[in-house]
This record gives sequence, structure tokens and C-alpha cells, in this order.
Amino acid sequence: PRPVYFDCDTGIDDSMALAYLLASPEIELVGIGAVHGNVSATQGGRNTLQLLQLAGRRDVPVAIGRNDPLVGEFDGGAPHVHGRNGIGEIEIPETDMTPVNEDAADMLLRLSHEHAGALEVVAVGPLTNLAVALQRDPSLAERIAQVTAMGGAALVPGNITSVAEANIGHDPEAAQAVVSASWSVTLVPLDTTLENVLEEADRLRLCAAEHPLARAVGEMLDYYFDFYVAEYGRRCSAMHDPLAAAIAVGGMLPRVAPAVPVEVDVTDGPGRGQTVCDLRGQRQGPVDHPGANVRVVLETEGQLAPQLLERLLA
Ligand code: BDR
Ligand code: CA
Repeated sequence: PRPVYFDCDTGIDDSMALAYLLASPEIELVGIGAVHGNVSATQGGRNTLQLLQLAGRRDVPVAIGRNDPLVGEFDGGAPHVHGRNGIGEIEIPETDMTPVNEDAADMLLRLSHEHAGALEVVAVGPLTNLAVALQRDPSLAERIAQVTAMGGAALVPGNITSVAEANIGHDPEAAQAVVSASWSVTLVPLDTTLENVLEEADRLRLCAAEHPLARAVGEMLDYYFDFYVAEYGRRCSAMHDPLAAAIAVGGMLPRVAPAVPVEVDVTDGPGRGQTVCDLRGQRQGPVDHPGANVRVVLETEGQLAPQLLERLLA
């Protein structure tokens, strides 16, 4: 299996992504970093450890990362979307597992040496930990095979401002550092995550699962679905983070994903946090832009729900 470092702000859809990755024989989770976002990095790390315990995967090391973005401070997270504890206010058993003795950026750097040229990064929260690791050692980019990040909005509106998607908008400076580093990045933006939806019937199948992690995911989704009623007018949810995980693993294939120049707006105006994707020239069909290192997934092949259920219920 290919070695994967997973960076997350656990989070309900982050939990789905974690469950998906744990259920994917193609990859091996060699480390997880927690970052501020839906909750503090500390809380996200605690959630992640409890979920790993539930999954019987005490072997996967978890490092706490940055509690604040590169500029400014943690804004208190998204309790209205993910609940106060980040996992839909469900209760899962406490664990005696503890985070490792290094921060997430150092863990990523260490793993990049241990798996030089092979390590893949899947990032589903703000990109602060990745940016800090690049600051500490810019040669990190050379040792990473692929970065897949859930984030941005290419042609659709943002979700925390009119133009900014949450993961990018919560640390635009970090996101700009990540998209401009010399590694290959696949960005999975709202354009496609909003098109991959989990329905109430799917959720109920998770709730009835034998596997405790799948069951917990089904239960926490109850809170998420309530939030989405306002957005969709029905009980369902977009699958932001698990879509990025599935694309990274290869379980889902991008259908339209041109490599184009991407810049993140780091100004203080209304455009702050926007992912400015240069999609000019795409009208005749997806054309790669020479030299661009960011692949923007605009459409996927098929839908995530069936195979997410297949993996989580197996
Ligand atoms: C992203 O923001 C967070 O709330 C979700 O976990 C996801 O990573 C969607 O914009
Ligand atoms: Ca997330």
C-alpha cells in the first residue's frame, strides 16, 4: 500500500474521510496531523484519536498541529455545522491514546524522509500544517509524491464568504504557500464536492452498520444533515472531505480536472481567500496549462455515495 499522511480538522466530513481512508487497502495511513478549522487542533486531535480507537487502529500516530492560522487567530470553528465537539455532539468512548511528541509539521517532515518520493498527502482542513512544514524545510516538496486537498471554489460561490471556501478562507496565506510550492497538487473544490451528496437512506445504512466507526459516522451525520436542510431543502449532505480522500486513493476518478495556474487571494478585501483558477481556454474542453502544478477537479466520474457505503460497510 502507498504511504499517506492525512491532515484534518475533525469535523464530521473529516471523520467520513478518515473512515474511508482506513477502509482503503490501496493506502496505508502512516500519520495524521490535526489542524485548527472546524474545531481547535487540540480538539480535532482528540476526536481523531477516539475515532481510531473505535476503529481498532491504535497503531496510527496522531500529531497535534497549529491551533491558529499563519496570520491572525483561530475563529472558534464551526459549531453550527459540526457541533460543539466537532463530531455532531455524539459521545464516543474516551481513549487512553495520546498524541505523539512532535507537532504535525515535524511529523510530516519526518515521514517525508522515511518515505521519500512515495509519501502522499491528503489534506482536508486549512493548510496551515503543510505551510509550516514547507517553511521549516522547503525541500519537503521534492519528497512528496502527491498532495490532494479539499478546498476552494473554482466557478461556484464560496461557503464562508461570497468567494472563499472554509479550508482556504481560514488560512489563505497557508493555501497560497501550498499551491505555489513545487509539488503536484490536486485541488478538490466545492464545484465537485457539492455534487456528491449523501442521502438520509445512506445515513441510516451507516447507523445500522456492524462496524462501530461506520455507526458513529452515521450518528454524527444527523447533526450535519440538520445544517444542510437550510442549504438543500432536504436532509442530506455534501461529502467534501471523503471526496478528496476517494480521489487521492483512486477510488473516485476525476472526469474534468485540468492543470491550471491557481492563486489564492491574500489581500484584505472582499476577495480574501478566493481560489483564483485560471480556467481561460477551458471552453473547448479541459486543456492542461503548461507548467501548472495544480489540478482542479471540476467533475468526477460517477458518484461517491455507493462506493463510500461499500467501503465503510465492508
Ligand atoms: C470544508 O470545511 C469544513 O467545514 C469541512 O470539514 C470541509 O473540509 C468544506 O468547505
Ligand atoms: Ca475538514
